[in-house]
Amino acid sequence: MFQLRNFLYLKELHKDEINHLLDLSQSYLNPDYSSGKRSLLKNHSIANLFFEPSTRTSASFQVAAKRLGAESIIIDEKKSSSTKGETVLDTIKNIEAMGVRAFIIRTGDGSLFEKLIKNVKKDTCLISAGESSVSHPTQGLLDLLTIRQEKGSFEDLKIAIMGDIAHSRVARSLVEGLKILETGRVVLIAPDEFEPDLKKFSNVEFTTKPEVGLCDTDVVVTLRVQKERIASDKNGISLEDYSETYQLTNEKLNLCNQDAIVMHPGPINRGIEISNEVADGEQSVILKQVENGVAVRMAVLTEILK
Ligand code: CP
Repeated sequence: MFQLRNFLYLKELHKDEINHLLDLSQSYLNPDYSSGKRSLLKNHSIANLFFEPSTRTSASFQVAAKRLGAESIIIDEKKSSSTKGETVLDTIKNIEAMGVRAFIIRTGDGSLFEKLIKNVKKDTCLISAGESSVSHPTQGLLDLLTIRQEKGSFEDLKIAIMGDIAHSRVARSLVEGLKILETGRVVLIAPDEFEPDLKKFSNVEFTTKPEVGLCDTDVVVTLRVQKERIASDKNGISLEDYSETYQLTNEKLNLCNQDAIVMHPGPINRGIEISNEVADGEQSVILKQVENGVAVRMAVLTEILK
């Protein structure tokens, strides 16, 4: 069923392909099913190249590969020959020469995958682990899986995404997936400083007012405030001002539907975009998202490499 050689953007998938990946991920959450697949990818070597920091994505891809019997090769950028000036393409071509045909890559360069696709071998697979502010497709999938587990279907849902939307690859991929699954309403909530280019988000509503955006919401996704960006931008919003208006507190959560779930892709800035009470509260599914991340990455590795 799956025709893709690379896994870079959710918008490249059809509804039935996304649903198939979600179904397969759900199967991998069943230990009996999962244990029967321990050798599925036993002849595969997968190189992991992370040119930006990561905890969840990096660790869960390694766990996923191990559970399917594949070998993971970890290239530590700080100790690799990229510190001596080797380009990413040369690094990949050298690892390809060792017989490796699968590369999981996180990059801050929004044009890297385009360049790689033109230059790698025809049977090499590229899997995005996060691309600049453009795409984070496996995060999008694990978010969709979590919403489906908690809410069943997407058609009647109102989903709010609040935070630094302008620079968020998580928001971009999640919105792509939500649109393909025909979600009822998607509302982006952010201050003017984080207002997204709405041309990059089709069929969404936008508001600067949490009290408007959160009203009647079934799912609220909070996003990390990218402190490093605010600190370097003299015209940026202060963290104090941001938290005052946009931190998801119990008071703001009460604006949502009573059974609303709270999501966050991590890492969390506690006390900035989300309060401790909400992050650790009964409506939070943040660690469930992390658990789902392993299953989703097993599903993606299976479909791309099998
Ligand atoms: N959500 C996410 O991508 O987390 P990491 O940066 O830790 O991988």
